[in-house]
Amino acid sequence: MIERRSSRRRTFPLAFFFAVGLAGSNLLAGETALESSPQTHADLVELGESIVAQTSEHPLSKRYVGNRLNCTSCHLENGRHSEAASFIGIATAYPAWSPREKRVITLQDRVLNCFMRSENGTRPPQGSLVSIAITTYITSLSEGLPIKMNPNRPLGPNAVKPLPNTIGKADPARGKQLYEIHCASCHGDDGLGNDDEPPVWGDQSYNDGAGMSRNEKLAAWLKVAMPLDDAILTDQESADIAAYVNEHSRPRFELSSHLPPPDQSGIYNGVQPD
Ligand code: HEC
Ligand code: HEC
Repeated sequence: MIERRSSRRRTFPLAFFFAVGLAGSNLLAGETALESSPQTHADLVELGESIVAQTSEHPLSKRYVGNRLNCTSCHLENGRHSEAASFIGIATAYPAWSPREKRVITLQDRVLNCFMRSENGTRPPQGSLVSIAITTYITSLSEGLPIKMNPNRPLGPNAVKPLPNTIGKADPARGKQLYEIHCASCHGDDGLGNDDEPPVWGDQSYNDGAGMSRNEKLAAWLKVAMPLDDAILTDQESADIAAYVNEHSRPRFELSSHLPPPDQSGIYNGVQPD
């Protein structure tokens, strides 16, 4: 594993390598070894955070990921950033109503659905170690906060605020110029990123079923998140750049190709697929 941004990323816990090492390099065996080894609550929180930080490379999660993005690529600082799709407090909102799924979903459902869209991959099984570890980590970031289930949307109290609808129509041509000034130095003129920065379009990016593929969501996130460590864009600039970024091609989302085979899926949004 190459440690690229040591200040941001965490290494896998030593105990993890030990457990995987015992089981050899087979990934499924790695999961089995961990599942059968005793795990404290603190171990699971730590494991969950390391998966959030390295989702596309972590031995437990990479088989469920279809692009080069990690959860932390958008949920900055492993979800500890207060504004950029913060994980802080979100466990208090679940179970929550999901207009998309037209049912009440759990935090675990929400986590697993992100693998199909933002990560352009396959939904891990309910109750798998990867699912429980991530959900335990995210829930740990709501420790001590009062429960306030959300009957309207699967969003927590610190969700990214929509931009005011008073801003003018987004202009992708202006967005292109702004992208070259503010973004290309890290994500590339071609949007494909590099070893340190993730792609923002193309086949290694989020698919067109992800929240970020909707211009208004991407714009609101850019406003609080990018340029990294220096989020200085105005509302209008964020909207223009979002329109430009999402004008490019990215993987198409079709639900059937993102669900695992029925015998491995567990329950999907309360329904057992046939
Ligand atoms: C491409 C960017 C991106 C990636 C990668 C991503 N997410 Fe998200 N995620 C978002 C956005 C944007 C939202 C807010 C969606 C909205 O506003 O509807 C969100 C929402 C969520 C929520 C619900 C938040 C709430 O307030 O209730 C959870 C939980 C979540 N993501 C977990 C994950 C996990 C776990 C991963 C990695 C497996 C992941 N996400 C990967 C962009 C991303
Ligand atoms: C200093 C380098 C830098 C600059 C400048 C920068 N980004 Fe990023 N961006 C990153 C990094 C690094 C991440 C992933 C965060 C992480 O892993 O900690 C990221 C994540 C993202 C993501 C979510 C993940 C993905 O690839 O889809 C989007 C979208 C994005 N940036 C768009 C932009 C846009 C648009 C601009 C210009 C307004 C911009 N960035 C400027 C470094 C940068």
